[in-house]
Amino acid sequence: MIKLSQPIISEEEIQAVSEVLRTGMLVQGKYVAEFEESLKAYMNVQHVVAVSSGTAALHIALAALNIGEGDAVFVPGFTFPATANVVEIQKARTVLVDVDAKTYNMDPDKLEEAIKNYSEKEKPKAIIVVHEFGAPANMTRIMEIANKFNLFVVEDAACALGAKWNGQHVGTFGDIGCFSWHPRKAITTGEGGAVVTNNEALSYKMNLLRNHGIERNEDGSMDFVLPGFNYRLTEFQAVLGIHQLKHFDSWVQKRSELVDYYYELLKNCSNIQLPEKIEGHAWQTLMVVLDTSINRNDCIQKLKNKGIEANLGAHSLIDLNYYKSKYSADNQILNISTNLFKQGLALPLSPVLEKSEITNISKEIKLLIR
Ligand SMILES: Cc1ncc(COP(=O)(O)O)c(C=O)c1O
Repeated sequence: MIKLSQPIISEEEIQAVSEVLRTGMLVQGKYVAEFEESLKAYMNVQHVVAVSSGTAALHIALAALNIGEGDAVFVPGFTFPATANVVEIQKARTVLVDVDAKTYNMDPDKLEEAIKNYSEKEKPKAIIVVHEFGAPANMTRIMEIANKFNLFVVEDAACALGAKWNGQHVGTFGDIGCFSWHPRKAITTGEGGAVVTNNEALSYKMNLLRNHGIERNEDGSMDFVLPGFNYRLTEFQAVLGIHQLKHFDSWVQKRSELVDYYYELLKNCSNIQLPEKIEGHAWQTLMVVLDTSINRNDCIQKLKNKGIEANLGAHSLIDLNYYKSKYSADNQILNISTNLFKQGLALPLSPVLEKSEITNISKEIKLLIR
């Protein structure tokens, strides 16, 4: 089976993880600190707090910004549900904004319109912008809008390590950037994530929130200064992350070359729309969009029968039970999100994929959509 994606874990990494396991020092310690330092240097950002998942990262980001009951948060309509679930968990109101059909990212014009037309009782407080599948969102526009309406910006860069907007790493534009190290992501620690920020006070608060609200006094004693979570990363995960990051730039390069090859083979298919190739894209996922005349789920099954794993890309939140029942009366127009959810097809992509496999995948797709 040609896998949709696969983590790359070397013998050297297995060895490094085993060595940490043998030490018996398993929870957040020197390797977590080293991983944070490596991420700081890589992204050119002042503070990094490693956590146990991308969802944990989003959750402490909202908690650190005091987003809660009475607040409204603008979220793209097409994403992985965790982006909005944390808003709901914090008891704030989710306001869905439709995305662009070619980048799959929140459409800045529609965001501005949604903020202007917003009339619910909760007060607009933040925007969560998603860099979908590694495509950098237009952070120039998003930051202009956020400044105009005085809103916080949380960047959900779960899929976007290595993605850059105007040469700057995504996740470092807004108040807080959130990353995931799940095995489908660019680098993996099994489960894992991180928040990044250039704001010292937010970094301090997120450090507390990650670890039960514990503050260490100078004499080594500790106090619990706020109600926090346990969102710590383990030492054996962190050591894996340190190694993964060393290979990462070459993996991004390889992904980009493989995407170019897909484009070469698929660009003339009138039934398939390819995403816009934005400068600075990290290509965590390549999702194409099938014409509405084609049954996408059927396509997934038929590709599977040919030994090719493909899948839907992300979800249209307004089409999911929870969000539909709570927010469909809001009458947002989310047609593009809905279409991407129904017709989007994520294709196999990983740095170890062979060009010959892409030739085969493209051939099978063309046969299916004729
Ligand atoms: C856009 C986005 N945000 C958040 C998450 C959640 O990350 P995690 O699975 O590490 O909790 C994901 C995971 O797929 C994602 O794609």
